[in-house]
Amino acid sequence: MKAALVQVKAIRHELEEITATDIGRRVPVPAARSEIRQLAETINQTLDRLEAAAEQQRRFASDASHDLRSPLTAMRAQVEEALRYPDDVDWKTKAHAMLASLDRLQAIVSDLLILAKLDSGVPAHYERIDLGALVCSELDRRRRNVPIDREVQPGVAVTGDRLRLARLLTNLLDNAERHADSKVSVSVAREDGTAVVEVLDDGAGIAPEQRELVFQRFTRLDASRNRDAGGTGLGLPIAREIARTHGGILRLEDSVRGARFVLRIPLHPDQDGDL
Ligand SMILES: Nc1ncnc2c1ncn2[C@@H]1O[C@H](COP(=O)(O)OP(=O)(O)OP(=O)(O)O)[C@@H](O)[C@H]1O
Ligand SMILES: [Mg+2]
Repeated sequence: MKAALVQVKAIRHELEEITATDIGRRVPVPAARSEIRQLAETINQTLDRLEAAAEQQRRFASDASHDLRSPLTAMRAQVEEALRYPDDVDWKTKAHAMLASLDRLQAIVSDLLILAKLDSGVPAHYERIDLGALVCSELDRRRRNVPIDREVQPGVAVTGDRLRLARLLTNLLDNAERHADSKVSVSVAREDGTAVVEVLDDGAGIAPEQRELVFQRFTRLDASRNRDAGGTGLGLPIAREIARTHGGILRLEDSVRGARFVLRIPLHPDQDGDL
């Protein structure tokens, strides 16, 4: 009993130190199998997760600052140059160049706000949504750059937030259109109690080893940088977060050609199968 108390004391002492100083440290794990050893192991696992989350936050803040800095630097250079040679400046051209940087800043900030809202668990406005109808209205609204085929099974309903699901679709469609060679295909279907939406393009696709990477914040693959000069690399992370808040998943699956994004969300509970 006394030995157990000594072990608990050592764990508590180390935890106090960790709270005050360094999240990289771990509590001592007693050698013999016991409840206390299990407790120490659980504490260390929790610390592992906390440390990973803190690291992720740190990286996110640093990537965000870096991405915000580039358009700011560009704008500052333009203003400084214009002020240095005010008589030689074509102010209209300057203003247009600055507007491009402002657009970029605005895009990054609005994506960051969406992510912050999703991260902080701001509640969604859930309602019954006919996914096929939502997809069709989004497709009808878009200005097309490439033809988009659609194959929509009727009556596939989910519990969802209309604005967020529309945003998810827009992010996938923007990417698909940008990377397609000649066309994009979208489908909505019901599969084993799940609603499935696929967005497929016929472009160069994404290598299997990069399929998880593209869902990380600020990732933009080198191969496609010239195609998406204005991208922030937040479109897919936002789309995946939205899928998660709907109890679903969004991932890349195999395809003969191009990238195939597949979204799966649970069907609405009162779905009777042949609505
Ligand atoms: N359909 C696709 N085909 C090929 N590569 C893709 C496709 N969709 C995304 N990618 C790659 O994944 C990266 C991340 O996509 P994501 O949508 O997150 O960011 P983005 O499109 O660069 O910027 P944003 O969506 O914020 O404008 C893209 O930069 C691109 O390299
Ligand atoms: Mg995108």
